[in-house]
Amino acid sequence: MDSFSIMANSILAVFSVMQLGLIPIMAEGETTVFGAVGEQVILPCIDKSHSDGVTWKYNDRVVIKYQGQLLKGITPMVSRSELNKQEMSKGNFSLILSQLEHSDAGKYICEVGSRTFKVQLQVFEVTGSPSGYLLQGENLMLSIQGSSSANVTWSNNRKDKVTATQSRELKNGGRSLQIHNLQAEDSGTWRCHITSLSAKLDIPYKVLVIGFHNLNQEILYKAVNSTVSFSYSLSTHLLQIRELEYVRVGLEWKLMIGSKYLEKFNFNVTSKEPLWSKQMANMEVTWKPSNHLEVKLPRVQSKDAGWYQCQLTVSRGRVEKAIHLVVMTVSADPVGPLSKWANVTLLCKLSAPIPPNAQLFWEHVNGTEKKLNMLGHSEVKVKTKTVGLWRCSLKVENNMMTSIDYTVVKAAEWNNYVIWAAVGASIVLLLLASLCTFICTARQRRRRRAEKMARARRDLIERRTCQCQLQLKNDYSDA
Ligand SMILES: *[C@@H]1O[C@H](CO)[C@@H](O)[C@H](O)[C@H]1NC(C)=O
Ligand SMILES: *[C@@H]1O[C@H](CO)[C@@H](O)[C@H](O)[C@H]1NC(C)=O
Ligand SMILES: *[C@@H]1O[C@H](CO)[C@@H](O)[C@H](O)[C@H]1NC(C)=O
Ligand SMILES: *[C@@H]1O[C@H](CO)[C@@H](O)[C@H](O)[C@H]1NC(C)=O
Ligand SMILES: *[C@@H]1O[C@H](CO)[C@@H](O)[C@H](O)[C@H]1NC(C)=O
Ligand SMILES: *[C@@H]1O[C@H](CO)[C@@H](O)[C@H](O)[C@H]1NC(C)=O
Repeated sequence: MDSFSIMANSILAVFSVMQLGLIPIMAEGETTVFGAVGEQVILPCIDKSHSDGVTWKYNDRVVIKYQGQLLKGITPMVSRSELNKQEMSKGNFSLILSQLEHSDAGKYICEVGSRTFKVQLQVFEVTGSPSGYLLQGENLMLSIQGSSSANVTWSNNRKDKVTATQSRELKNGGRSLQIHNLQAEDSGTWRCHITSLSAKLDIPYKVLVIGFHNLNQEILYKAVNSTVSFSYSLSTHLLQIRELEYVRVGLEWKLMIGSKYLEKFNFNVTSKEPLWSKQMANMEVTWKPSNHLEVKLPRVQSKDAGWYQCQLTVSRGRVEKAIHLVVMTVSADPVGPLSKWANVTLLCKLSAPIPPNAQLFWEHVNGTEKKLNMLGHSEVKVKTKTVGLWRCSLKVENNMMTSIDYTVVKAAEWNNYVIWAAVGASIVLLLLASLCTFICTARQRRRRRAEKMARARRDLIERRTCQCQLQLKNDYSDA
């Protein structure tokens, strides 16, 4: 109510002034001022002749007037115009216009005492199509709206001047910029630079791209039984985007390039959700609100190999990123310890075709034997008699990606058992033999003793008969 009556008073006052103000006016040079929609602009008017009043007009209608007291007109920008009293006392009668609109553009006149200052206001705006947040891979058209006489250039989020390239197209004499195939890295503040001979303006435009970092084909090479961790990082914090109604995050897997993706899991993300952690089959899943998904797969096997694609679905569409898991396995034929004159065939295999810049090889650790894969083959075989530690390694562009060790067990170790067994057996045989001899000699001795006894008996009998005869002989001789 109060402001209404003030306004009415002001309007009355302005009209009366307008009727009175028929003083011949000295026009000064014209100044051009650039302003951006929604922003503030200062229309300069400086007169040091100690005038105590000022009248600002737009298209010959009063915007604001100060003559001891502040009076406002009825032009559309009236509610957004101000004068600074302190500055006015210093001869600075500049008009402050806030929250600029396109319709504010035009000719302004500042009347101070007998002098007038002309200010040409040009209002610009940078619009983006589509507006709001964007998805990776989309195209964005930035355009400048406003007076067409100025020169327009653009700079990107790294402050480099934009020149026409395959993915950057300048249209309408540079007044529009088409950015093709947006990437997460394009997020940030882009700028439009508007210049003319007497004025210039920079207008920022915030580009927000939802996408994954490091979109280029990522391959993880892992040894069988190791733990693999897939990490998907979003370019933006989803919480920054108010327009997002719902967000779903999921993981899909496929074994081969040609096959269809199968869903492993998915879940809805809400801004209130705390750290999300869940065990799924053999996977450990962690969602860090609101821009990071981590999936851990312990003890990978060759059946786990393939493409793991994370996808983020929002109402506007979806973005995705796939990570390719390649699993290395080794095997030996025959398995187990190697006998002295036999060979063993060691096989090292990758679950997917090998890139041309990769090298797969077996080598005898600290030895000289080495076997490389044939060009393009995703497996390497070595036939060897050499025992000890063997290692299969994968190098991509001279970077060691992964390796597996395999120990060919020494044949000598196996022979030792045989020797020990033989020694044991011979000891037993020896014991048996000695027992046998002992028994035999005992028996022999017994037999010999028996024989001796028999002979002794025989001798005794013989001797007795002999003695008898002798006795007889003696008896006869005695007689
Ligand atoms: C005049 O005043 C405005 C604010 O009202 C200020 O922004 C501007 O810098 C001043 N100009 C000079 C020359 O002091
Ligand atoms: C616009 O840019 C062109 C080329 O850079 C230049 O020749 C011309 O003078 C500029 N015009 C204005 C108004 O700045
Ligand atoms: C992987 O683990 C299995 C089961 O524990 C084992 O038999 C196999 O030798 C391991 N492979 C390698 C290369 O370590
Ligand atoms: C997530 O939300 C969407 C839409 O609100 C719904 O259709 C879907 O079933 C939800 N998914 C899960 C896993 O809760
Ligand atoms: C070991 O390999 C050699 C050469 O390949 C072959 O001639 C020989 O027969 C193999 N020996 C055995 C026991 O397999
Ligand atoms: C290979 O040689 C290095 C250094 O000489 C030694 O530390 C390592 O134990 C050796 N490895 C084998 C398996 O002999």
